[in-house]
Amino acid sequence: MEQEKKGGFKSSIGFVLAAAGSAVGVGNIWRFPYLAAKDGGGLFILVYLILVVTFGFTLLITDIAIGRKTGQNSIRAYQTLHPKFGFLGKLTFLVPALIITYYTVISGWILKYICVYFTGASEAAAQDGYFTNFITSPVSPIVFMLIMLALTAFVVFSGVEKGIEKFSKIIMPSLVLLIVGISIFSLTLEHTDANGVTRTGLQGLGVYLIPNFEGLTFSRFMEILMDAMSQLFFSLSVSMGIMITYGSYVKKDVNLDKSVSQIEIFDTGVALLAGMMIIPAVYVFSGTDGMTQGPSLIFVSLPKVFDAMGAAGTVIGPLFFIMVAFAALTSCVSIMEALVGNCMEVFHISRKKTCLIVGVTAAVGAVLICLGYNALYFELTLPNGSVGQLLDVMDYLSNNFLMPLISLISCIVIGWIVGPKWIVDEMESSGHAFKRKKLYRIMIRYVAPAMMAVLLLQSVGVFTWFK
Ligand code: PFF
Repeated sequence: MEQEKKGGFKSSIGFVLAAAGSAVGVGNIWRFPYLAAKDGGGLFILVYLILVVTFGFTLLITDIAIGRKTGQNSIRAYQTLHPKFGFLGKLTFLVPALIITYYTVISGWILKYICVYFTGASEAAAQDGYFTNFITSPVSPIVFMLIMLALTAFVVFSGVEKGIEKFSKIIMPSLVLLIVGISIFSLTLEHTDANGVTRTGLQGLGVYLIPNFEGLTFSRFMEILMDAMSQLFFSLSVSMGIMITYGSYVKKDVNLDKSVSQIEIFDTGVALLAGMMIIPAVYVFSGTDGMTQGPSLIFVSLPKVFDAMGAAGTVIGPLFFIMVAFAALTSCVSIMEALVGNCMEVFHISRKKTCLIVGVTAAVGAVLICLGYNALYFELTLPNGSVGQLLDVMDYLSNNFLMPLISLISCIVIGWIVGPKWIVDEMESSGHAFKRKKLYRIMIRYVAPAMMAVLLLQSVGVFTWFK
C-alpha cells in the first residue's frame, strides 16, 4: 500500500506529539505573550480560546482529514479532492517554501543565544545593541542558520517514524517540563527597582490574565479579533500543507476528533504557559516597557531580565533558550517534511536525495534572508501599513496573504462544492464519534469563510475603518 511504502506514524500519541511539535514554536513563545500584553490581557486570551475551539478546530480538522483520506501531500491531495482545485495544492506548497527561509534564520538566532549563555557572555547580551549587531553581522547568523537547517534535515532524513515521531516523543515532554518549571519560577520573582518600586511575579500574572476593557470600542475589538485570528493560524500551522502531510501519515484507526483536541490543548497550553513565564518576569524587572513586539522580546528584553536575576539568571537563561530551540526545531522539521513529502510524491525520488535538494535550496533562500539585514537591506511599506525588510516581507506574504487566501478557498471548496460530508465521513471512518460535527458544518460553510475574507481584506489594507 502507498501509505506503508512512504512510512507513517506508529502510534496515535506519536502523531499528536509530532503535530504539536509543529504547532508549538517561536510563535507561541514570543508572539502570544506579546499580543496578550498589547490586547488587554485576559480579553485577548478569552477571544483566542473561543477561536481555538471553533475556528482553529475547523481548519485543523480540515487539513488533517484531507491528508488522511487522500493519503497524499498537499499538491496531490487537492487534486484528488477536486480536479478543478488542484492549483490550491501548488499554492499551499508555496507557504512552507517561503516560511522555511526565515524560520530557520530565527531558529539560528536562538542557537546563538544558547551559545551566549554557555560561553559566559550573558552580560554582553543584555547590553543595548547586542542583538542588532549580531543579526546585521555578515557571517555569524548564516553559520547558526546552517547548523539549525542541518539538524532539521537530519531528523527529516531519518524518516517519519524513526526521525520525526521518535524525536517529537523525546522533545515535546521535555519542553513541557522546562516551560512549567520556568513559569513557576517566574511567579515567585520579586524585585525593587532604582526608584524603590517593588513588583512581584503575581502582580505580573494579574497584568497578563485580568481582562482590560478600558477604552474598548467596536474597532478596538475588531483589532483584537484579527490579531487573535492571525496568531491562531500561524500557531496551529494550518493552511500551509503541513497538517495535510502529517495527516497522510496517520493510520486509519486513529480517532482524529480526539487527536485534534489534544493538539489544540497542547498548543494553547504552551502559549498560555509561555505568557505566564514571560510576562511576570519582564514585568518584575522592566515594568510593562519591556513588552515590545517581535523578536526583540526574547532577544532583547529577556536577556536583560536574566541578567537582572543574578545567579538564578545564569541557569534560567540557558534553560529558556534550550526550550525555545526545541520548539523551533520541531517546527522546522514539520516545514521541511511538508516540502520533502510533496517533492518525493511528485518527482518519485528518494527521501535522501529530496532532503539534500530541499536542504540546499532552503539554505540558499535563508542566506538571502540573512543578507536582508546587511547587503540586501531595504525597507518596504506593506499593504497593511507596516514597514518591513526581507524577512518581514516573506512573513507577510505567507502569513497575512497566502494563508488566509488558501483557507478561504478551502472552506468554499469543502463547504459548498465537495460538501462537509467528505470530511465528516473521514472523521467517522475509524468508528469513533465526531463530537463537534454540527459545529464543523456551520463553521466551514458560513463562519470560517466570512472571517477569512475579513482577515484577507484587512491584510491587504482594504479595511482601514478600525485603525
Ligand atoms: N506553529 C509554529 C509557531 O507557532 O511558531 C510556526 C510554524 C510552524 C509556522 C510551521 C509555520 C509552519 F509551517
